[in-house]
Amino acid sequence: MLTQTLANISQAAESGKFCACLGKRPIAAGGNDVPKARVHSIRKGLPMTGYTEMRRRTLLAAAAMAPAMFAAGAASAQSACQMSASNGKVALVTGSSRGIGAATARRLARDGYAVTVNCVVNRDLAAGVVKEIEDAGGRATWVQADVSDPAAVRRLFEANERAFGPVDVVVSNAGIMRLATFRDMTDDDFNRMVDVNLKGSFYVLREAARRVRDGGRIIALSSSITLLRSPSYGPYAATKAAQELYANILGKELEGRMISVNALAPGLVNTTLFTDGKTREQIAGFAARTPHKRLGEPSDIADTIAALCSADGGWINGQTVFTNGGIV
Ligand SMILES: NC(=O)c1ccc[n+]([C@@H]2O[C@H](COP(=O)([O-])OP(=O)(O)OC[C@H]3O[C@@H](n4cnc5c(N)ncnc54)[C@H](OP(=O)(O)O)[C@@H]3O)[C@@H](O)[C@H]2O)c1
Repeated sequence: MLTQTLANISQAAESGKFCACLGKRPIAAGGNDVPKARVHSIRKGLPMTGYTEMRRRTLLAAAAMAPAMFAAGAASAQSACQMSASNGKVALVTGSSRGIGAATARRLARDGYAVTVNCVVNRDLAAGVVKEIEDAGGRATWVQADVSDPAAVRRLFEANERAFGPVDVVVSNAGIMRLATFRDMTDDDFNRMVDVNLKGSFYVLREAARRVRDGGRIIALSSSITLLRSPSYGPYAATKAAQELYANILGKELEGRMISVNALAPGLVNTTLFTDGKTREQIAGFAARTPHKRLGEPSDIADTIAALCSADGGWINGQTVFTNGGIV
């Protein structure tokens, strides 16, 4: 079954035949977040219009990496079934329709949180994450909201409160990455990163500061690129470094309320944010640079977030937690 599916993905990529309903993103490397519906679409082998050669190569890379991805997916599906009883707490994870955010939403739901899932365009994926959680016996809802719009962020928090009550955990995860050297970076790409990563996370953290219950947790996603400092990552790295300052200073501002605020800095994680636009060889090269010889999976990052949210994680406050398998 698995072998057959992989063969179909690879064959579809080779032949240039895909289903148009795959949407703008390839199934490439959502890690354990490859949506079943999209895999099914690929297996239909329908022609897809306008798919670029780059995305074709990305899909081929996904097929090559799929055994690990499917294994992780199976583990994730299995763990989703082992849902804890409700812990009476509420979590809101921005950008949780796929990638690290989706893995975090699933993991927190598994730990007993009622979870609000958020997307900006991929409503079907957000709904799919919610359905998975509900099918496993958990509680979740999803809200479409662009974090770069402060009014939308307010509505996101209000919707969460209407569904589940005051929030205990906020993960400011939504983010985008546009890479180019200083010479080649466009205004549009620079501005969009500032809008989503720098301003968007601020809007989310501001609402969190106003609403998170005493004893809660706030986590902002930085990146290990703040240490790696590779060429072409300049503006992206700057928006991620800001998360570390946000977390440290917000943690101090919330003194006396037992709310721990941290930045989390993943390394190379198997999501479209990292793999999109890279060749199979480039991805393999990055994986080879890590001590464990693999990319991180979204579930690796979700596990660290769950640890910070646990009772045992409370004393970690105002820090940047690097969760990167040792690449830096
Ligand atoms: N992957 C890595 O290697 C890596 C490494 C270090 C740090 N990080 C950080 O980890 C976070 C998650 O990354 P990822 O790899 O999981 O990314 P991803 O797979 O590309 O997923 C991004 C998520 O953010 C959402 N999103 C994007 N723009 C948004 C906006 N304006 N408003 C609300 N939601 C928005 C997307 O929603 P839609 O599905 O609706 O588009 C999606 O759910 C980011 O902050 C990233 O900087 C990632």
